[in-house]
This record gives sequence, C-alpha cells and structure tokens, in this order.
Amino acid sequence: MSIEQLQTDEHGRLRHFLSIEGFRREQLLQILDTAESFAMLPGRQVKKVPLLRGKIITNLFFENSTRTRTTFELAAKLLSADVINFNIDVSATSKGETLLDTLRNIEAMHSDMFVVRHSASGAAHFIARHAAPGVSIINAGDGCHAHPTQAMLDMFTIRRYKGDFTPLRIAIVGDVQHSRVARSQIMALNILGVSEVRVIAPRTLLPADVRTLGVHVFHDLEQGLKDVDVVIMLRLQHERMDNALLPSAHEYFQLYGLTAERLEYAKPDAIVMHPGPINRGVEITSEVADGPQSVILQQVSYGIAIRMAVMSMALGNSSGEQGS
Ligand code: CP
Repeated sequence: MSIEQLQTDEHGRLRHFLSIEGFRREQLLQILDTAESFAMLPGRQVKKVPLLRGKIITNLFFENSTRTRTTFELAAKLLSADVINFNIDVSATSKGETLLDTLRNIEAMHSDMFVVRHSASGAAHFIARHAAPGVSIINAGDGCHAHPTQAMLDMFTIRRYKGDFTPLRIAIVGDVQHSRVARSQIMALNILGVSEVRVIAPRTLLPADVRTLGVHVFHDLEQGLKDVDVVIMLRLQHERMDNALLPSAHEYFQLYGLTAERLEYAKPDAIVMHPGPINRGVEITSEVADGPQSVILQQVSYGIAIRMAVMSMALGNSSGEQGS
C-alpha cells in the first residue's frame, strides 16, 4: 500500500496523518484553512466545539514532549473528545509488552485515535498498518523521520505572517541530519511552492542526500541568511547523534548561533522560528529568541488550531464549523 493510500481514504479524505509525503498542495491548504477556522483571534480564546463529542483519543508518547503532547490534549478537549494520556513510565511496557499488544489493548477500550510519538523512525506507520478499521493514527514525531503536525503549524505560522508562499525564501539552520521537523518542513515548503528552501549547516549535520530533498545548501551562516524572509532554527539533537559530530556547543555557537547582528543579513521584516525546545546560547541568543522578529511562542499557540484541524478531519468532521 502506498503512503497516499495509507493516509487517505478512497475519496482522498484524511484517515491517518503520518508524513507530509504523498499529500498534494490542495490537501495541505485544506488543513491550513480548516485550522484557520479554529485559530485564536487576538484577545479571544479558541471556542470549545462539539465536533468530536463521544470520540476517545489516546496520547501514546514513548518519548518526552512539552509542546506536542499538551497541544494535542488541549486540541482534543476543545473538540469535546475524551482524552487518555497513556503514561509509558507506569505502563506494562516495562514488563515487556510489545507496541502492538499495547495498541490492541487500548483499541479494546474503544479508542478512536492514537497520537503516537516514538524514538523509532517508522513507528507510527507500523501502528497505522496494524490499526483496526476506523481507528486513526497521528504521527507526533518518529525518530529522525517525520513530525507532520509540527511542519503544518510552521506552515500556518508562515502563512499568517507572510501570506502567499510563492515568493518566499526560507532558511533552515542547524542539525538537519537528525531533525524530523526539518524533513517535514522541507517537504511541505516544496509542495506549497515557495521560491527557495535553504539549509545552512556544517557538513556533519546534513544528510548525505540533502540536495535530493530540493534545497540549496550553505555552510556559511551569513551567506545563507542573505535576504531570506523566514529563518527556522533547529536544536542540536544530541540524543540522536551516534558520535561526536561537533567539537563543542561553544564552537557551534561561534559559527551557527543566531545573533541579532547575523539576523541583519536576512530581510528587515524576516521572522525567526524554532520548533522548540530552544537551547539559548547554543543555536540562538536570548536577544533574538525573545526579540521582535521571533514568532516562536506564536508557533506553539497555532499548534492547537492545526491539531484541532487534523484530528477533526481524520475523524470525519472536516467542516471546522464552530458550534456552541
Ligand atoms: N516541537 C516539539 O515537538 O516539541 P516537544 O518535543 O516539546 O513536543
């Protein structure tokens, strides 16, 4: 079964959301437009809507998370679903229960959707291939592979601040090699038709096949930032590095840390993004992270609307109409 067939039903409607791969521009725009109907207006909270009343959604996080797990939970509650936060630390996983047996047991409790984070690339696909009919799987990050809802909330943020994707020049800076976020962002940006996607990193932090992803490669930060509209910073993902790929965090900051002076190479109205968690003084200074061009916390807020959109679409209520 192809990734398109796995993620959508025979009418092209979302069933699972595992990867940006296989989606067409119109489908990604539909997710953004549905999220727009849920998004917070300035000074106004997202309204609770009854779209998923009676549905059960299980957060199945085998890896730590602050933003993703919490915004999925909040989004599910705003859609009136019942939420189970499966606690791996006190579960029978420690007694040797397999991933599939855990899935089967929670399915037996009639969960309609699993939101899955796992350190193994492909874990969400594996679960989706074995899920019961009518059960949706949302990938909340698998290894170095994909983090599709993060990429979509980033696209939402870019569209909110910059409007049309077409003329944009976007730079992704840092540890692309180990970043599921960067892979998903690059795919989404290319599908949405931005003018240029740049990656800026030392050779040791780029995948060998990076050019096949549809990006322009820079090793010099100042050259790569020249005239970009959006700067996306990435964290050094030490937990996924097999061996030392960098001399030190200090040296990395000297070469690739985003400072106010370096940000001046980008367009004056460029926005600065970061999926989080940020490491201040390693990839970004506090002056930039907390500065006027940073939209890092807005990204987190927009994650609620994107996750509401994806969950409501996957469970068959894609209208996004706001009820009482
Ligand atoms: N961006 C992101 O995935 O953050 P968390 O690890 O906190 O969920």
